[in-house]
Amino acid sequence: MKFKILTIFPEVISNFLNFSILKKAIDKKIISVEIYDFRNWSENKHRKVDDYSYGGDGGMVLMCQPIISCLKEITEEEDYTILLTPQGKRLEQKKVKTLGTKSGIILICGHYEGFDERIREYVDEEVSTGDYILTGGELPAAIVCDSVSRTINGVINDQSLKNESFDNNLLDFPVYTKPRVFEGKHVPEVLLNGNHAEIKKWREAKRKEKSKKLLNK
Ligand SMILES: C[S@@+](CC[C@H](N)C(=O)[O-])C[C@H]1O[C@@H](n2cnc3c(N)ncnc32)[C@H](O)[C@@H]1O
Repeated sequence: MKFKILTIFPEVISNFLNFSILKKAIDKKIISVEIYDFRNWSENKHRKVDDYSYGGDGGMVLMCQPIISCLKEITEEEDYTILLTPQGKRLEQKKVKTLGTKSGIILICGHYEGFDERIREYVDEEVSTGDYILTGGELPAAIVCDSVSRTINGVINDQSLKNESFDNNLLDFPVYTKPRVFEGKHVPEVLLNGNHAEIKKWREAKRKEKSKKLLNK
C-alpha cells in the first residue's frame, strides 16, 4: 500500500510515522508513505497557499491551485483520493477495511477555514474522522494511515487481528496481564485455570456483554 499525504505541515506526519508498528511496516516495505508539502507547488511568488474568503466573514481558505497542481503531478492510475474534512463520511472499521484493499491512497489535509469548495470536484471521496473540528487534517491523515495499515497483511500478526473490536459488530473481550492482583483487583479466575474451552466461552460472553452495553449507550 502506498500512501501519499498532501499537507503544509509535513513534520506533524513524519514524526508520527517514526515509531512503533507503522515504522516497522515502512522498514519492511509493506507500506510506503510519501509526504508532499503542497506549498512547493504554489505559483505565488511568496508560496502562498491560502487567501481570504470571497464574501468575507470567514477565515483563510486553501486555494485550488497549489493543491490541484500537486495532485495532478503525483497521482498514479491506481490512487484513490481522499479529502479530509469534518463534512465527509465518518471513518468506521468497515470503511477502514475497504480502504485497505486499495493499492494507493492520497490523503489531502486541510487547514484554517478549509478548502476552496471546487477542490471537492477532484477527489474520490471526503472522509471525516468524527463529528468534531480539528485545526488541520494531519491527525485525521495519521488516523487513516494507521487504521488502514493494520488491516494489511504482515503489519500486525494474525493473532492480534482476531476478534478485534467492531468485527461482527462486537467489541473485543477484556484482557489482563501481570500481576494477578493489583490494588485488590483480581484477574478473573477463569483466565488462570488453563481450561481453554472455558476461557473461550467466557471471552465470547464478555464480548457480547460489552457490545450490548455500548449499543445501549
Ligand atoms: C478548522 S478545519 C475546517 C472546518 C470547516 N470550516 C468546517 O466547519 O467544516 C481545518 C481542516 O482540518 C481538517 N479537519 C478538521 N476536523 C476534521 C475531522 N473531524 N475529520 C477530518 N478532517 C478534519 C480538514 O482537513 C479541514 O479542512
